[in-house]
Order: sequence, then C-alpha cells, then structure tokens
Amino acid sequence: MKKIIGMMLSGVMAAALVTGCGATDIATGNSNSKIASDTLSDGVLTVGTNAEFPPFEYVGDDGQPDGFDMALIKAVGEELGVEVVVENMEFDSLVSSIGSKTDVAIAGMTVTEERKQSVDFSEPYYNAVQHVLVPKDSPIAAYDDLIGKTIGVQLGTTGDFIVEEIEGATDQQYNKAVDAVNDLVNGRLDAVIVDSNPAGVFASKYPDQIKDLNGEDFGFGIEEYAIALPKGDTALKEAIDVAITNMKEDGTFDKLVDEYME
Ligand code: ARG
Repeated sequence: MKKIIGMMLSGVMAAALVTGCGATDIATGNSNSKIASDTLSDGVLTVGTNAEFPPFEYVGDDGQPDGFDMALIKAVGEELGVEVVVENMEFDSLVSSIGSKTDVAIAGMTVTEERKQSVDFSEPYYNAVQHVLVPKDSPIAAYDDLIGKTIGVQLGTTGDFIVEEIEGATDQQYNKAVDAVNDLVNGRLDAVIVDSNPAGVFASKYPDQIKDLNGEDFGFGIEEYAIALPKGDTALKEAIDVAITNMKEDGTFDKLVDEYME
C-alpha cells in the first residue's frame, strides 16, 4: 500500500525494495521486479481477509491469520518481492476497503458479477460450491425442502445471496459462519448454507449432530475463488496472475493444497 512515508524513502532504498527480490516468470523469463503497479510502489502489499473461514483463513494459535489463502498470498508476495501485511476484518467490508484500507483481498472470495462492478479479480485459484448443513435427523435433502425454512449464513456471502432467493425462507445473517453453526446445533436454525470446505471443517466438529449436504444436489452452481484487486490496476493483476501460474507449475500450489485441505 502506498503511504506518504513511502515517498520519504530515498530513491536507492525504494528501488532496492521493488527490484531487490523480484521473481522471474518461468515461461517468459520476464522479471516481476519491473511491475509498473502504483499499488506496489512502496514495497508493501496490504491484504484484507476475514479469518473466519477454515481452512482458507482462520486465527492461528499465535493469534495471527493462518490458512491456505494466507500461505498463498505470502508466497505471491515473495514472488513479487514485496512485504505482505494482513488486515483481518468483516467479510462484508473487504470489497469496499480495497483502494483505501487495503490493496487487495483474499478470503475464499467468489467471483461475482456484482463484485466485478467495484473490483477486478485475479485468475481463479480454487473451485467450490455451497453446502447445506442440517441437523442429523433433518428431512431436508433438496432445494424445495428449504422453502419457508430459517437458514443461517455469513453476512454478504454468496450463501447469503442464495438464501435471499429462497421462497419464504428467513435469511438469518451472522458475522461469522461458526456462530450460525452453533445456532444450528442449538436448534435455532433449520439449516446453514456455507462453502464446501468450511462446511466440512464445521461439520467434522459435530459428527453426531450435523449432516453436511452437497449443494450440487440442491442445484447450486460451481463458484470460483479469486483474489480481489483494485479496479484497473492491470500491472498488479498481471503480476499476481503470473505468480499464481508459476506456483501451479512448480508444485508450490499443490503443496499448499496438501498442507491445508482436509
Ligand atoms: N465464497 C463466499 C463468498 O465469496 C464466502 C466467502 C467467505 N469468506 C470468508 N473469509 N469469510 O461470498
């Protein structure tokens, strides 16, 4: 993130920060150190996340955000030769913070047409689908069974948008999906709609109380996760896309999948 203090760096220091450890595109031999992005001119990439979404992001034992996305964006930062600073915030504030509080956001964020009005997205890095968590003895098994039900979601997520469309359903919004899961276990909700991987993590904590149903059986579509970027910063998008492509080609990406996904 460009801060006033960045302008106080001497030319030599600033150049060292930006060019010091730039990565090289394996395919083209181009060096990322010449990234013409204003966003990176101070050598810092400020990243928004919402660390309430395991295994993509959660607060680790040391109190810091950890998870697949955190490891991925740190590796991207290394490729780009910039320092990564993570800001943990509400999911619903991530998109609007880009360009002010943060440079980019990584948060298991689905590419949607609506979000594309305000931000650009990197190439997608992961596919998901919404899952339906229900009590073990629930008869819910198909889309029509959700009509008129009380359904918990995390505010501002694609699960939230799905429930808004379900006829007669009460869309019970929470700041954290885990709070919705607790209310499901306590009998206050008929279902929770949340992305596949977190659904698996949450359900595994309550194997006797919760069933984890694949939303594909409810007609929910495949969603693509990508990093949200400031609109129009094509140099940054290009650099991040190249970094992700390199990580997919050299095995770094698969290593992260093995490390973080169940
Ligand atoms: N994929 C969903 C969306 O983009 C949910 C993401 C929630 N992520 C989080 N870190 N809480 O709306």
